[in-house]
Amino acid sequence: MQLLDGKLLSKKIELEVTADVKKLKETCGCTPGLAVVLVGQDPASAAYVNMKKKACDRVGFYSITHDMPAHISQEAIERTIISMNKNDSIDGILIQLPLPEQIDTTKLLELVDPAKDVDGFHPFNVGRLLTNLDGFVPCTPLGVMELLREYNIDVKGKNCVVIGASNIVGKPMASLLLNADATVEICHIFTDDLKRHTLNADVVLVGVGVINLITEDMVKDDVIIVDIGVSRTAEGKLVGDVDFANVSKKSSYITPSPGGVGPMTIAMLLSNTLKAAKINAQKAKDQ
Ligand code: GUN
Repeated sequence: MQLLDGKLLSKKIELEVTADVKKLKETCGCTPGLAVVLVGQDPASAAYVNMKKKACDRVGFYSITHDMPAHISQEAIERTIISMNKNDSIDGILIQLPLPEQIDTTKLLELVDPAKDVDGFHPFNVGRLLTNLDGFVPCTPLGVMELLREYNIDVKGKNCVVIGASNIVGKPMASLLLNADATVEICHIFTDDLKRHTLNADVVLVGVGVINLITEDMVKDDVIIVDIGVSRTAEGKLVGDVDFANVSKKSSYITPSPGGVGPMTIAMLLSNTLKAAKINAQKAKDQ
């Protein structure tokens, strides 16, 4: 069994991004900028945003967080997004999800300029991913693909079972795998007999937030496991969706959780923001 070490790879990517930021500053005097919208007091969201901000600082990005109260109006967030769309020092815009109930999330995501959509949640970028065109790809599934690539795992022709069908993880994950010529199944909360599907999988990619959803009897020998789930146990320990202790014995490759996909998500946010900044720098040069 080999660990897919996202912590290690994310550090390597951070160093590459840092070097590119330095070059960009020298050649065009531009600093990549990321604006984050955080609404409400959800501790998990606040912790994620804090990690993203620290990562931006480490690689030399400019970053700003719009910290908004939970009772904020739709219009106030819309005004903030419109002003960030117009602001040339902002290359990437990230709206931390989930948002409070009174907020129309879809409308906000559609308001973000697709060229600054570093989360890849705008329908324009969703469509480009589905049709295998270049665009912005959601950070978590993009991070999974990078991790597989680092360990020379080619999914072409492999049976990949994605568990979870969210717009943030499951659906873009399935699209990326399909674009890489995998055979893809998407399982979700209404899937009957999950084990029937996972037993047939060469690669299981799971991100639903259910502790020990995947147990050793559900996978075949030498399976590749990508655990995208993160939950906190009653004792306060962070764990994934896979019974790591037992499933790891049967697998050829497995991500730890934490320390697997999580750090890759942040690394891909940096990489997407750098990509946006480079495109903007080129546009400014061409004008
Ligand atoms: N909430 C959970 N995951 C994500 C993510 O990748 N991006 C944003 N914006 N919100 C999230």
